[in-house]
Amino acid sequence: MNAKKTTAEPAEFSGERVCIGLLFCRKEAYHQTMPHNKAKTADVAGSLKLLHILELKAGMYVADPGIDWRERPYLYMREGLLASDDAVRNITAEGYLEVYIDPDRSPAYAAGALPEADSDGAEERGKTSAGPKVPFVAEVKAAAEAHDAAVGYARAFMSDIRFGKLDMSPASNIVERIMHSLDNNADAMHSLCRLRRTDSYTYMHCVNVSVLSSMFARYTHMGEQATRAVGLAGLFHDLGKALVPPQILNAPRKLSEAERRVMNTHPTLGYEQIKDVPSIIPEVPQGMLHHHECYNGAGYPAGLSGHDVSDVGYIVALADIYDALTSRRVYKDGMPPQRALGIMYEMRGKALHPEKVAVFIRMLGVYPVGSVVELSDGSVGVVSAGNPDSPIKPVVIRVKDAEGAPMHGDTLDLASPDSTLRIVRAVPEATAGIDPAAVLGLPDAPPAVTA
Ligand SMILES: [Fe+2]
Repeated sequence: MNAKKTTAEPAEFSGERVCIGLLFCRKEAYHQTMPHNKAKTADVAGSLKLLHILELKAGMYVADPGIDWRERPYLYMREGLLASDDAVRNITAEGYLEVYIDPDRSPAYAAGALPEADSDGAEERGKTSAGPKVPFVAEVKAAAEAHDAAVGYARAFMSDIRFGKLDMSPASNIVERIMHSLDNNADAMHSLCRLRRTDSYTYMHCVNVSVLSSMFARYTHMGEQATRAVGLAGLFHDLGKALVPPQILNAPRKLSEAERRVMNTHPTLGYEQIKDVPSIIPEVPQGMLHHHECYNGAGYPAGLSGHDVSDVGYIVALADIYDALTSRRVYKDGMPPQRALGIMYEMRGKALHPEKVAVFIRMLGVYPVGSVVELSDGSVGVVSAGNPDSPIKPVVIRVKDAEGAPMHGDTLDLASPDSTLRIVRAVPEATAGIDPAAVLGLPDAPPAVTA
């Protein structure tokens, strides 16, 4: 892979490399040997019981079975009695899929509150695990139009701000369109962010960070106002870069210490432009100001840490780093999501908020749409839809058989009871010789407009 750097501050993490394959392979091995089987309650060693997260109720005692988080990222393990329905809702909102409880310490279990498998719980699961409102192929055109409109707006505000102008009036509508498309089918908008090849990276990055931040807000059931704030902060997060002298911003070399200090003023420069805009949600400029602060205090501009960094700042930081790592450029392929998430996992508790990183990884899943994967019969394909109930069993469009012969879009739902195949590993696009954007039928990004 071409090792050229992106413009979105990859220097802080470009030296970090971890084995994400190990992380996900171990989890996959678990799922393959111990399938969840429609959320039925499962007896395990000792007296603990494994529940689907939607069977969890107030009055149950969550047990920590002592399993490494990396082996079971979808297993909730914070031990204690759940005192309220709100506590249960919060756990569900964080994207966990399963939990061990200790029946002997669970008043709700003793009172017979544990639902029978496949009874009313199944109905609730059906609601929660329902597929997207709109099929991928039906949403992708509208998603591309919303994405293009947002990129056009980003180009305009990043240019205008150099002349002291900033028209915020289209911003709300731009973010609303993104949120609407995410609500219809998040896979459509997300795949556009990662897979479109473009020479408008700077503007695309603004939009992609807005999309990924909004996805996080939706995934964690943040309120409408808070979700809008996250989306806007993502869109404008690098506004201040437009005010950094071009000879520093575009320097095709490592910056000197003095130049780095100038570059590191961009969160403050952007904040200053937005903070006094009438009716702006205060979390928007605050999130922009904090998007390079670190959980351990090693960030900038203020060196804040822990709870002093805003939630919006932490969320935008996750989206910023993930997009910088995975974006395709004219001169390079994007890093596979599994590898990018592995790097981010290693940054937990250092640059990144540890629990939010965990949520971000669960949100994007093991094989995001557009991932190139090898199946157990040796065929290779592209993930075209996720499966919230079983993240290792998405829908795959097979492109090549084991001998490399074309398969002309044979689509398989790996979660189907009839399916005998499973994913063996993710494959880098370049290695597979497959263009996921073409397989998924993504519209091309419009050509860049040079100022
Ligand atoms: Fe930045």
